[in-house]
Amino acid sequence: MSTSKKRNKSNILCVLCVILIFIVLLLFILYFCVFNDNDEKRLSKIGYSNDEIHTLMEKLSDSQINELYNYDYLPFLESLIGLENYKQENMLSYIEYVNKIDSNSDLEIVIYLVNSNINYPYSAKLVDLVRSKYFILSRLDRYMKYDSDDINTIITNVNSNLDYKFYSNINPTDTSKETLLIVNKYYYLDKNYSYGNLVTIDKKYDNKTGSKLSSVAYEAFKKLVDDASKKGYYIRNNSAYRSYDYQNSLYSNYKILNGLAWADKWSARPGHSEHQTGLALDVGVKGKLSLDSFEGSNEFIWMRDNAHLYGFILRYPKGKEYITGYGYEPWHYRYVGVDVATYIYENNITFEEYYAYFVENKM
Ligand code: DAL
Ligand code: ZN
Repeated sequence: MSTSKKRNKSNILCVLCVILIFIVLLLFILYFCVFNDNDEKRLSKIGYSNDEIHTLMEKLSDSQINELYNYDYLPFLESLIGLENYKQENMLSYIEYVNKIDSNSDLEIVIYLVNSNINYPYSAKLVDLVRSKYFILSRLDRYMKYDSDDINTIITNVNSNLDYKFYSNINPTDTSKETLLIVNKYYYLDKNYSYGNLVTIDKKYDNKTGSKLSSVAYEAFKKLVDDASKKGYYIRNNSAYRSYDYQNSLYSNYKILNGLAWADKWSARPGHSEHQTGLALDVGVKGKLSLDSFEGSNEFIWMRDNAHLYGFILRYPKGKEYITGYGYEPWHYRYVGVDVATYIYENNITFEEYYAYFVENKM
């Protein structure tokens, strides 16, 4: 072969090599441009803005980002992952939940429902219940079953156990709640239970009944009486601790004299009286044992407005008879401590409502 032929051949080889390299390079570029989009590009193609992409890349793991490619653009996603109770591990469940409803749903509620494993379908009623001040998760089934359109009624009544008839569903009360233990038509005391030390009330504080009170309530009552008398109001005990047997005889007599409905309106059945705790008492004006006349006295006005400052609540208020199960008793006060009494007084709720939400539910 001549030298010029050899040169031609190597020139052709060179050109072929360059073409090959060029093709390989082109394929690379094509691959990176078309087949190997990075996450930013892929998310942008789905419809996410640069800001959203920045947040998603910062907060989601690689595998979570990959999951997003199974969905169309999720307009709520950036807000969702920024919310306080958002949990990474529930991301797909949140997305599924919102997709089942619409993206204008309340995302905080969606997070709460998913985190709490609540299976009820999203509805205005469910949202209103969950948003209610005294909502208790463990009572959700009962709220949903309760026959009322008014959310406050549902919450108040179910929290107070009114979805059960009085005395139809009774349980021993939890005495570990101490001065916050509840006794009513759903919760009862052991026959021999009373709280702490029972102390005989000094005659200075008593309308000659010789009653006893639990020492913690007695100390608070003495202070209350002393402070009230400095202002010219003379408050005395009319009936404090009552044993199971004594309550039994009281209740039975009322029943014989006035019938069952009257007895149940004004007297607790034995085991169900707060008087048995030693933490409750009926008060009156000095020298007057009458309960009925107490409401008309200045002492009542003072008690109504100040008892909470000493840790006592008006236990059976007017207008709340359907909750407490008793007639209005302006004379009956229950010791719960200053903070709790003040909360109940300021928020105008019953001890039933307070107990369900703050004591049983939280402690
Ligand atoms: N009078 C109240 C309700 C009681 O008997 O305990
Ligand atoms: Zn009473």
